[in-house]
Amino acid sequence: MSTSQNSIDQLFGRLWADYVSFNPHAQRIHDDILEAERSAGTKALVNDHIALRTFAVERIGLGVLAKPFLELGYKRCGEYEFPEKKLFALHFEHPEPNKPKVFISELLIENFSPKLKSVAGQVAQSISASLLGRPEMLWSGRTWAAEHRVYQELLKESEYAAWVYAFGFRCNHFTVLFNELKSFKSLETLNQFLTEKGHRLNASGGLIKGTPAQLLEQSSTMAGEVDIEFTDGRHRVPACYYEFARRYPLPGKSQLYQGFIAASADKIFESTNRQA
Ligand code: NI
Repeated sequence: MSTSQNSIDQLFGRLWADYVSFNPHAQRIHDDILEAERSAGTKALVNDHIALRTFAVERIGLGVLAKPFLELGYKRCGEYEFPEKKLFALHFEHPEPNKPKVFISELLIENFSPKLKSVAGQVAQSISASLLGRPEMLWSGRTWAAEHRVYQELLKESEYAAWVYAFGFRCNHFTVLFNELKSFKSLETLNQFLTEKGHRLNASGGLIKGTPAQLLEQSSTMAGEVDIEFTDGRHRVPACYYEFARRYPLPGKSQLYQGFIAASADKIFESTNRQA
């Protein structure tokens, strides 16, 4: 195994450790699926992609988060626009087919209020220069003091902005590649299994986003709620979620489609919305 492959596995290992450390429900989902797969001989779940979020401002824009991946040999691939949520995203792939894809989005803050812009600027200034563009930045979490009052103000404009403000830089979700599972016939049966296990799924736009004709079907859980320490008290807020992706082969080929569908991703973003 080359040094860069080792480093890639290490990087995803660190992101996973951070992700499950404050999302115990993600670990339970992982373990429930793996348990169901055991009799079929599955030793590990395959991660289709991870997602990272940030603000489109100097120091912390999408390109800064992408840097550690580019240095490990990842290449820029698809480009996505989310006009309603005012987001822009890119996805990155590694030339080696089994490496997880990386989906990085950024909030286009010029479309928001002066208050939101100023919070994004404060967030950007709070990051130590030594972290910028380094792998450690990707699981550095929140390095600024956050107020629940500000969190609630941000929620009114953008659930995404409030999430970044409360959690900082860490993996927003991991994704099980359905194609590698052996015990589930369809994404529907996997969804049904998860529901029976007590995991709540994101129903925005239907439980399954995308169609076989679009070459990608996705579903996700709703983010688990965790207690967060704000300067003005401890509050329960939605953290991270788990996603499931079924990919279909490109027409006339054996390779699976590797991109994303903006309309589906738009609904998947809502997995971190507050629940009624
Ligand atoms: Ni995703």
